This record gives sequence, structure tokens and C-alpha cells, in this order.
Amino acid sequence: MSESATIANLPLPPGSRGLPLLGENLEFIRSPAQFISTRRARYGDVFSTHILGSPTVYLLGPEANRWIFAGEGKYLQNQWTAGIRQLLGQQSLAMINGDEHRERRRLLLPHFSQESMRGFVPTMQAITERHLEEWANHAGVLTIYPAVQALVFEIAVTLILGDGRDVDQPYLNKLFHTWTEGLFTPLTLNWPVTTFGRAMQARKAMFGYIEQLVRRRMRRDKQPDDILAALLATRDEAGNPLPVEAIVDEVQLLLFAGHDTTVSALSAMLLLLAQHPKVLAQARAEQSQFAPDEPLTPDQFRRMPYLLAVINESLRYIPPINGAFRVTTQDVAFGGYRIPEGWTIAVSIRGTHRGEPWAEADNFMPERWLADPKPPMGSFIPFGGGPRVCLGTNFALVEMSVVLTLLLRRYTWELEPNQDLSYQLLPTPRTRSGTRVTFRQRS
Ligand code: HEM
Repeated sequence: MSESATIANLPLPPGSRGLPLLGENLEFIRSPAQFISTRRARYGDVFSTHILGSPTVYLLGPEANRWIFAGEGKYLQNQWTAGIRQLLGQQSLAMINGDEHRERRRLLLPHFSQESMRGFVPTMQAITERHLEEWANHAGVLTIYPAVQALVFEIAVTLILGDGRDVDQPYLNKLFHTWTEGLFTPLTLNWPVTTFGRAMQARKAMFGYIEQLVRRRMRRDKQPDDILAALLATRDEAGNPLPVEAIVDEVQLLLFAGHDTTVSALSAMLLLLAQHPKVLAQARAEQSQFAPDEPLTPDQFRRMPYLLAVINESLRYIPPINGAFRVTTQDVAFGGYRIPEGWTIAVSIRGTHRGEPWAEADNFMPERWLADPKPPMGSFIPFGGGPRVCLGTNFALVEMSVVLTLLLRRYTWELEPNQDLSYQLLPTPRTRSGTRVTFRQRS
């Protein structure tokens, strides 16, 4: 029997399609974590549903993740929800596929290597020092989430778009936030009064503004050391520069991809450290090997295995991106089931991090990383995997290391009582209270 005939004989994965038109959206949006755990308990690691406008199959576990990441461009490709497809730039890395995606990544990767991050550390340090000082001078209780948002936005804008003198950051920040609110709305009606419609208006203004900045920079002789300069200098094998539209779309994608993710991660790390005093004490103790005012360098971070364990464990415990989507480009078989062409495949990053092979998966235990720093392939995927693995992994790791190191060396933060620290998971995990603390300079 041919392979396609064998696949045709397999059953579809078990599951339910929910209500006509609505599918199982309401349950999914109310609590994505519970949505997955109840179905996993009922059907196992492969189940089908209908969410965000498509028949969807969840494939859970490291083996499934390896199969999905290996299938890019062979039996599946990247898939964004209808809303995100309209909000992202069509020429950006996240939206292009196949050879075009491979070639663009080849051009961009050198600018995101560990070595390229070296030059960014002093800027990250200077911006972070200024923000942390403001946090400590802030009268009364500090809400971590918006404070981290302002810090991460300034770092991203400065290192992606320039030294900031050219950029109206409050204006761009406002557009960016209205745009972000449209990303996960289940209804993508583009009307002036809807969240999605307002996000589309913000999109137009934001892309127009970034294009102005890019064109202004193209006329400058001396470029600052930032990612936009690298994008402007990029040449393909024939010596052609990237088209302006692609540069604008890429800048916008980088601001988006690197912002809410890092904000969510750093906010979770501050909360987890406050909730685990022994972990906090050990992380502080590791910093005592350095002189307090020694400027930060990537080489110093290599001498902080415990800090890396805290970062990894936080990314495992509260991954900033809950999951990712792909679409099948042909009928395929996985786990004894048939998945028809055109169905969505969902990777659950959160579900992966809370299942096998993780022992005591619901406990926050950085020390597990000291015992075993390399978990099995496909079991730790905060940055995704395969050809679409996060382009900004090194950027994010260095940025988080800078912020945490300065916090550990110089500041204390204590949780305020009576606040709701439960998490809402979409679009990226954040506590319902925003995490309120008293924040002080260490004596
Ligand atoms: C803790 C912080 C971050 C996390 C957890 C994270 C996570 C992810 C994940 C899971 C993906 C893959 C999505 C998929 O497979 O569909 C991704 C893609 C991407 N990320 Fe990140 N990210 C972070 C920070 C950043 C930063 C700082 C940047 C840029 C400065 C960035 C740029 C990108 C880009 C451009 C892609 C698309 C890659 C492609 O499609 O080829 N990310 N990220």
C-alpha cells in the first residue's frame, strides 16, 4: 500500500469541534492552560479541536515537538492566526516561507550572534541603571509589569532603531500598544470601534512612522551601531540591499517579537525571586565574586551558572510564549492519526514544560539546571525550535542577564500583601495585579 493510502486509512485525532462558527474559542481564550490540560487528560497527547477559525490538532510532548520542528518546509509551514496575519508586515521574517525565509535568516543571523551582542551590553546597562534608579526613587508601591515594559521598550527602540534622538518613543509606544491589543482578539472585524479596527489604524500609523525613520537613516552618512544599520548594510549574494518595505516590516517585527516576550519573562523572574528567598539569596551570593561597579560584559555572564539556571527555570516554568502554530501542507500521519492538509498544528510550549520528562514539573527549582544543564531535545522550547527558532535568543538572554545582575547587586524588592498574583496567559503571561512591590536600593 502507498504511503498516502496508508495515511488515508488512519482515524482523525479524537476531540470536539465545539459550537458552529465559535468552535471552542471561548474555552480556549478563558484559560489556555486548562483548555489543554482537560483535553490531554480526556484524549491523550494528540487531540483535535476548532479554535481561532481553523480545525486544529494539538501535539504534545518532546517527540511531537521534534517532529513539528523538523517538518518546516516539508510537510508543514508557519501559520499565524487571521488577525496576526493582517497586523504583521507581509515582508517580515515571520510571514515569509521556504527559500525566501531561509535566505533572509541567513542574512540576519550574523547580527544576532552572541558576538554581536557584546557591543550592546554597555547600552543595555546604561538604560537599565537609569530605570532602576527611577524605580527606587518612585514614591510608594511600584507595579513591576509597566515598569519593566518601559525599560524593555527603551532598550529595544534604542538598539533596533537608533540612539533615540530621532525617535518619538512615547508616540511609537502608544501606537505599539494599541497594535498589540489587536493580536489575539477572536473577532477580526476591521471597524473603527473594534479593538482589531483600532489596532489596524495603529498599524498604518506605526508602519508609516517607521518608514520615515528608515528613510531618514538612509540619508545619514554615519550610522550608529544598531540593528537598523545592520539591516541597511545587508546585501544578498548579488549585492542587492533589502527592499525598504522589508526593512520596515523587519524593524516592526523585531520590536514586537522582542518586547512583550522579554517583559513577561523579566516580570516573572522578579516575582519568582521574591517568592523564593533561598533562590534569591543564592543568586545574590553568586554576584559577590564581582566588584560592585565592575562594568558588565558577556564574559562575566559566563561565570554566573546560577543566574543562567534561574533564567532557564523561569522560562520553563512561565514560558513567555504559550505556544506556536503551523499548518499542514499535505495529509500527514502522527501518533497513529491522520492530520489532513490545511489543518492547524499547535505546539504547546507551556504544556511541554509541565509534562514528561520534567520531574516535579509544577515546582520552581533552578538547581535542576545545575544537575542537568541539557534537557532532552524538544523538552525545553521557550524559544521554539527548528528553522524558525527565535532569532533574538541571544539578545533576550543578554538583556535578561544585564537587568537581573543589576537588580541582584543593587536593589531589594518585596511583594505587597493583598494582590492577585494569579496569571492571565494571553497574549503573554502576566499577573493580574501587575505585581506590586516596595522597591529599594540595597544598603
Ligand atoms: C524571553 C524572550 C523571548 C522569547 C521567549 C521568544 C520566543 C520566541 C519563539 C517561541 C519564537 C518562535 C515562534 C514560532 O515558532 O512560531 C520566536 C520567534 C522570533 N523571535 Fe523571539 N522570543 C524572545 C525574544 C526575542 C527578541 C528580543 C527578539 C529580537 C530582538 C526576537 C525576535 C524573534 C523573531 C524575529 C522571530 C521569528 C523568527 C522566524 O520566523 O524565523 N525574540 N521567539
